[in-house]
Amino acid sequence: EDALYSDHYLKGKKVLITAGPTEEAIDPVRFITNHSSGKMGYALAKMAKRAGAEVTLISGPVSLTPPFDVHKIFIHSAKELLKEVQTCYQDQDMILMAAAVADYASVKIADQKIKKRDQKMQLELIKNPDILAWLGEHKENHQILCGFAMETEHLLENAAAKCEKKHCDMLAANHLLTPGAGFQSDTNIMTLITPEGYEELPLMSKDAVAEEILKRLYRISQKSTR
Ligand code: CTP
Ligand code: CA
Repeated sequence: EDALYSDHYLKGKKVLITAGPTEEAIDPVRFITNHSSGKMGYALAKMAKRAGAEVTLISGPVSLTPPFDVHKIFIHSAKELLKEVQTCYQDQDMILMAAAVADYASVKIADQKIKKRDQKMQLELIKNPDILAWLGEHKENHQILCGFAMETEHLLENAAAKCEKKHCDMLAANHLLTPGAGFQSDTNIMTLITPEGYEELPLMSKDAVAEEILKRLYRISQKSTR
């Protein structure tokens, strides 16, 4: 089956990858974020580059060294990420939303550091834009869209629903509570969901998972242009 792919099977393709967490400011010294390490997205960028693609990597704050020779854009908030995605999505052949976008942002960002006061304090949050859903609504026929999801329960049902709702060609999901999978890990057990069905990959390094995902997306792109 591997004979289908040349070493540079993504040559001439433009691939956009988002990676890492977003940070949603509360005041000048505080923010809301999550445990995303960015490893999956950075592995995708490295392997897409190796396969010959022209890669754009939009990344939240992570402590990884980005691959050499890819276009790099750094963001903090979901709103900044949306803006950067909207600037470059039209040129892209494949878009992979591996970023762990914060679902909510603080309604107000205080100009000054918020002082400690009462025993209880409330923070008002507002939903962030759903970037993958936006891309699903705006994608052109030739574009391939891939989402990611981490679930702690009902993985298949939840992930398949996201895949359909956000008009993804594929959604790569993993179970956060399975050993060897998840945020900080170098390995992943991914379930790949498409409108046709699903397949669970064995435990693999994030590089190997990235290669699998990219090859499958390539195969989907070959089918849809025929
Ligand atoms: N995503 C996005 N913008 C958001 C939230 C999520 O683009 N505001 C993208 C993620 O990058 C990921 C996919 O949507 O590719 C699924 O993210 P996930 O957090 O699993 O799904 P949600 O739709 O946010 O649902 P929930 O967190 O309630 O499970
Ligand atoms: Ca979410």
